[in-house]
Amino acid sequence: MNNFYPYSKPSLDDDDIEAVIEVLKSDWLTSGPSVDKFELALSSAVNCNHSVACSNGTAALHLVMMALDLTDGDVVLVPAITFLSSANAVRFVGAEVAWIDVDPQTGLITEQTLLSAIKKNRGKNLKAIINVHMAGQCNHLESIYQIANENNLWVIEDAAHAIGTTFTNSSGDLSKIGSNTFSDLTTFSFHAVKNIVAGEGGAVTTNNPQLAEKLKSLRCHGMTAKPEIAPWYYEMTRIGYNYRITDFQCALALNQLNKLELFKQHHKKLVHIYNEVFSENSFISGIQTSISCDPCWHLYVSLIDFENIAIDKVSLITKLKDLGIGTQVHYIPLYKQPYYKERYGDVSLIGAETYYQKALSLPLYHSLNENDCYRIAKIISENVK
Ligand SMILES: Cc1ncc(COP(=O)(O)O)c(C=O)c1O
Repeated sequence: MNNFYPYSKPSLDDDDIEAVIEVLKSDWLTSGPSVDKFELALSSAVNCNHSVACSNGTAALHLVMMALDLTDGDVVLVPAITFLSSANAVRFVGAEVAWIDVDPQTGLITEQTLLSAIKKNRGKNLKAIINVHMAGQCNHLESIYQIANENNLWVIEDAAHAIGTTFTNSSGDLSKIGSNTFSDLTTFSFHAVKNIVAGEGGAVTTNNPQLAEKLKSLRCHGMTAKPEIAPWYYEMTRIGYNYRITDFQCALALNQLNKLELFKQHHKKLVHIYNEVFSENSFISGIQTSISCDPCWHLYVSLIDFENIAIDKVSLITKLKDLGIGTQVHYIPLYKQPYYKERYGDVSLIGAETYYQKALSLPLYHSLNENDCYRIAKIISENVK
């Protein structure tokens, strides 16, 4: 093949560029009308009362930890398979992380793995759970929320991968990721490889007006304007950060948000092509999909039976790269990171280990056309034997 196909890349059109230029020609570069516009559009897109946009998805998670007053001695349950930020945000506020295992077929936590993590950590100061929507899929949000409520835990959805995903509950009602129908807060990332991009960017959604106000204050140094006292007056009531997002990032994110459904449908077609081609090869498959979730796929994670084929993961990655196909691994179980190993000792969770051994993310992005996707899938399948 002539081109190189990365595992992901942003999809930017002329209208995205024009939206950014328009803001650059205006008087507002940050904390201006494009931020407000994007927050309103996001609330409406995910069906939630409040959105607070911020500098990135990691900052969004940190804001959530602070807004919930999590601190030293508290414990937050985090999936073993996720990006570093999901756990690091817990550590930013001094709280401790406890791992939840995942289903090896999906990379998601399940009711069983959550219950087992709660049982294992009984007696500790368990405060919250972070439910990560790996690759764009979600687990049974309603059951996870019920278990969390029964155990007095906040539910935070880390939806860095899952803007545009929907969930159908046991009564057949559909809810959007970010609506917080089955959670307290949801965080998003608009990093350059995500489904909608702002370069860097993030947001928190919630239906709790007090939490929304607190998030806004924490995003901007912990300060609140007090025009009732004097036109210039502001008060800092808590320690906060500069986690603001610029207007030109929000203009880009807003333009991208308007194309989310297009991205979702195209990614679905590509996922279908991979799944069809791989259905003829018993050594490779896509991650299992759940009937209650309609995913806006961010990643195509293939699961490869490396134990029973002639090629190992490193050699396959190198070979595919030479053939013009980029791949990536999402993710190394977090407990393997030296920082977490030193803090929490050696951990090995069977679901996370099995998933990690098999997982390889393949090219998935809007400008990847169906013919190229088919050829990529065929080449991969031919090399997995
Ligand atoms: C699951 C997950 N959570 C959080 C983040 C953090 O987002 P950001 O890169 O915008 O800080 C990422 C980013 O890759 C992620 O994949």
